[in-house]
Amino acid sequence: MAEFHSKIKTIEWVGNYSKMVDQTLLPYEFKYVNITGGQQMFDAIKNMIVRGAPAIGVAGAHGVVLFAQELEKEHLSRDEFVNKLLDKVDYITTSRPTAVNLMWAVEKQKEVIKNSKSDIKGIIEELKQNAIKLEDEDIAINKKIGDYGAAVVPKGASILTHCNAGALATVGYGTALGVVRSAFANDPTIQVFADETRPRQQGARITTFELTMDGIPTTLITDGMCSYFMKKGMINMVVVGADRIAANGDTANKIGTYTVAIAAKYHNIPFYVAAPLSTIDVNIKTGDEIVIEERSHEEVTHINGKIICAPDVNVINPGFDVTPHNLITGIITEKGILRPDYNKSIADVFKLLK
Ligand code: MRU
Repeated sequence: MAEFHSKIKTIEWVGNYSKMVDQTLLPYEFKYVNITGGQQMFDAIKNMIVRGAPAIGVAGAHGVVLFAQELEKEHLSRDEFVNKLLDKVDYITTSRPTAVNLMWAVEKQKEVIKNSKSDIKGIIEELKQNAIKLEDEDIAINKKIGDYGAAVVPKGASILTHCNAGALATVGYGTALGVVRSAFANDPTIQVFADETRPRQQGARITTFELTMDGIPTTLITDGMCSYFMKKGMINMVVVGADRIAANGDTANKIGTYTVAIAAKYHNIPFYVAAPLSTIDVNIKTGDEIVIEERSHEEVTHINGKIICAPDVNVINPGFDVTPHNLITGIITEKGILRPDYNKSIADVFKLLK
């Protein structure tokens, strides 16, 4: 029987709209929602109906097509259309600031707009085709990441992951969970420990959902438990995804990842980041330059709409943290595993792309 992950696409362009899994409903309901307008896509990204860096990137690319379709109805000149569309493209990137895949994918659409020699209809068609190409490439890239990563998974390993870097954070297959999937295909004795991932519980709500749907043995733990299990020798490696990686390897990922990395270092457990090259932002030297998204206080003060603390307590809610490069054993990409010194290995892999 085909696995769950190969039967679904988290986000897909269909005719003249974007169809995506509504991730705010998981694990209670698995439901698709159609996004038919540019502003609706902006809100879907901001409100995390779609989430996970690569999925957000594709959503941004779809958003450009949706805005273009709307502008077409305004009967503008070609120049006016292009200028207004380029403003919308920049607007989309403000929906979530940390995951660089959003800026990367939207930039790809900008190139299509700027290089096109077509009329308005032609530009829209080219944008659609480019968005579909990004979808297909995402799955192919994740499978390569999975295969490179599987080679460093010890036999019978217990793999800890944080947040959700799975099929549901990408178009399909996943990055960190792509590594798990490829490893599991070779060795069904591996298992996963999934951090709950407060405040939004992507680990509990999404990672455990998609892994158990694929029959991969999974144990849910709360975020504070990781060092307890590491000390007991029950974790053999950590694999997480990434939202933005600086030129020196510093990696932004879901808040709490840094704590896991410190605990892994203390216990001599390999800590891997799995991410496509589109997550590497060579324009920034270190993680200090990464903008960390601040999210609503309600994500911390409430669970399922119910307040869980004193109503007037102070709250801070950064969505991501930055794991320093010296805590990272390797960065698993579609071009192989990058190793320290990351300034060199990252620069080298980008040179090869040119
Ligand atoms: O806030 P989210 O759910 O979008 O955060 C997701 C993560 O931090 C993922 O680990 C990251 O985007 C990589 S997804 C392949």
